[in-house]
Amino acid sequence: MTTAQTRNLLIVNGPNLNLLGTREPAIYGSDTLEDVEAAALAAASAHGWTVDCVQSNHEGDLIDAIHSARGTADGIVINPAGYSHTSVAIADALSGVELPVVEVHLSNIHRREEFRHHSFVSAVAEAVICGAGISGYRMAVEYLVQISEPSGG
Ligand code: DQA
Repeated sequence: MTTAQTRNLLIVNGPNLNLLGTREPAIYGSDTLEDVEAAALAAASAHGWTVDCVQSNHEGDLIDAIHSARGTADGIVINPAGYSHTSVAIADALSGVELPVVEVHLSNIHRREEFRHHSFVSAVAEAVICGAGISGYRMAVEYLVQISEPSGG
């Protein structure tokens, strides 16, 4: 855990989320990655928390970012995107750093193709939010603050 003055969350976005805003807007909406990160920052700032944001299209880079959260973050919000459905290694990295994790998907993965219904990350997440669009990131931040500061800090 970081100090009370520097509570911090790592916001991780996986492959293709750099294309948000132009990528299949009927499914993912018109908000950009910048909008997503700004929403997470605004939600965290309201509680005096900070965020570090990372997006990568590369599994190993995502794993390195997750490892770097140990000792620098109090929790992780992650949209593993396509890697949700394939990556044991990302799920292992998340368990390995022993931080609370909230998994977010912009779309409702359970209403979509069957191969999207299973996420390896869900088994290591405290909570999973899907189908709420960009609001899911705000909810994830709120939840991580709430479980770290149950009295509402
Ligand atoms: C996604 C859902 C995934 O199935 C997909 O591969 C993505 C985005 C979402 O945010 O809805 O890239 O994680």
